[in-house]
Amino acid sequence: MCGIVGYAGPKPAIDVVNEGLRRLEYRGYDSAGVALMADGEIVTEKRAGKLSNLAEAVAARGGMTGPHVGIGHTRWATHGAPTDRNAHPHVSVDGRTAVIHNGIIENFAQLRAELEGDGVEFTSDTDTECVAHLLAREVGQGVDLTEGMRRVCRRLQGAFTLLAVHGDAPGTVVGARRNSPLVAGVGDGEYFLASDVAAFIRHTREAIELGQDQVVTITADGYSITDFEGEPTDGTPFHVDWDASAAEKNGYEYFMLKEIAEQPRAVADTLRGRFDVGGGIILDEVRMSDQDFRDIDKIFIVACGTSYHAGMVAKYAIEHWVRLPCEVELASEFRYRDPVLDRSTMVIVISQSGETMDTLMALRHARTQKARVLAISNTVGSTIPRESDAVLYTRAGIEVAVASTKAFLTQLAACYLVGLHLAAVRGIKYVDEVAAVVAELAETPEKIATVLAGMEPVRELAKRMGTADRALFIGRHVGYPVALEGALKLKELAYMHAEGFAAGELKHGPISLIEEGTPVVVVVPSPRGRSLLHDKVLSNIQEVKARGATVIAIAEDGDDVVAPHVDHVVFTPRTSTLLAPLLTALPLQVFACELAAAKGHDIDQPRNLAKSVTVE
Ligand code: M6R
Repeated sequence: MCGIVGYAGPKPAIDVVNEGLRRLEYRGYDSAGVALMADGEIVTEKRAGKLSNLAEAVAARGGMTGPHVGIGHTRWATHGAPTDRNAHPHVSVDGRTAVIHNGIIENFAQLRAELEGDGVEFTSDTDTECVAHLLAREVGQGVDLTEGMRRVCRRLQGAFTLLAVHGDAPGTVVGARRNSPLVAGVGDGEYFLASDVAAFIRHTREAIELGQDQVVTITADGYSITDFEGEPTDGTPFHVDWDASAAEKNGYEYFMLKEIAEQPRAVADTLRGRFDVGGGIILDEVRMSDQDFRDIDKIFIVACGTSYHAGMVAKYAIEHWVRLPCEVELASEFRYRDPVLDRSTMVIVISQSGETMDTLMALRHARTQKARVLAISNTVGSTIPRESDAVLYTRAGIEVAVASTKAFLTQLAACYLVGLHLAAVRGIKYVDEVAAVVAELAETPEKIATVLAGMEPVRELAKRMGTADRALFIGRHVGYPVALEGALKLKELAYMHAEGFAAGELKHGPISLIEEGTPVVVVVPSPRGRSLLHDKVLSNIQEVKARGATVIAIAEDGDDVVAPHVDHVVFTPRTSTLLAPLLTALPLQVFACELAAAKGHDIDQPRNLAKSVTVE
């Protein structure tokens, strides 16, 4: 949720930290701040609002380029409003300790009461500030900053990544993590700490993933890692192989537009080389045997937001191909519902970031119940894949825009692969049957490119719809999750009331929302093969038309029946029903993006949101 960066080395720390924060701003953009070590003194600057506000304040102070050690933070507010005073870093009463934090400290109320009882006056409403005071107290008692951090961490409950600097340790940045991400970057005479490698990719591609409950100390000369008890330990080294330019807009006005355009490549990359000759998929990390896949008797798919919608599509494919019961659950509800899980249950968790706390907690719950967990994730080495029994990575490349696009399509592709793998391993489908679907999947990148090349009418339509105050999205079968996804995109980007419904459900209540001119986007199934579905959706179109709706249909090439009954129609290439979401989701992404742009909204960083949600 928040983005954090730390640096120790020869460069001006402010430059490295600012650059890192710019790349992490997708994680939160309510406020930003830095703390720099200048001759044993801490200097801080922080501002509510976007990073540009902080940059102006830093410039007004002459650039603050002297110090070579520093930490920086970009915030998505949890405790306390997004104001200057609640922006991080938070500093101890004596001004000698500065702390930044990502996560939630669940026992902060007790800690705050204890500190206030000792006479500490708080200057913010955050849970983080108590860490600055606790750490100052430990160091004041004579321990070094690293040991002080360990002692404080042992008292904290909840999820946290912390970075701290202290006037008594002028060349040092100390970090700690529990249930929240932290990676170290190993440069040549310089070291970095950050929530995500994107923060330091310009400086080094050698990184170390910190494990759970670890404390890391960096200086310009090296790094050391211990657990919270002080036992030396190792992180997991890895090489970052994506290009730094992947995190740039490359001429596009917004990251979202760039990421929409990247979808043919992202899907092709996700499918490439994934099948072996026996029809099985090649998983990236497997701690599950084929026998494990055979022993399963039910499947849960657990995810949030857009990833949940990908999971809903997967349910249709898996039940059809594998003939196993498959339930889709919102991660935030899963463990509280106390689902019936055991050794023969497979839980598929889907998370672009691999960090979403709701999904991580659902995963942990599943594992404690002995279920086997397969992760579909876009982020190599992130917590969710690490804690799962098997992993299939989507290869979307870094997704910066908060509104997920290419991650969604690659998740769909990965879900299809998993479904086919299960069908092959369990002997439900013959190798040639699997190969036929794979061949059709392999054609989708080209079809995606075709759809994207024809989006001008959708852009025009979106601009004309800029005055609408609501929109409904309806679909049946796999068109239903696509409708939900279209509505989510419009809500998060255009700040409009938009709802997705199963088309057949409309008459049970939601149809009363329709007034003269209400836009209704209808995801129409192919008339080939499942004509029953097609006919039912046509009836639903008649129902909303009869009540004055302006109907925009997403229909398959050659579907001549729909056009006369709707106001606008966008055609997508022919494909089989189950794979259609790879194409029908595209116009809805473009529609939301253009409509939000017409309203003058921030496309890549919509209000109140953050790219990865690492709190429950
Ligand atoms: O990183 P995850 O896939 O776990 O994120 C889940 C949701 O927060 C995410 O899909 C969110 O709904 C999208 N940003 C919406 O576009």
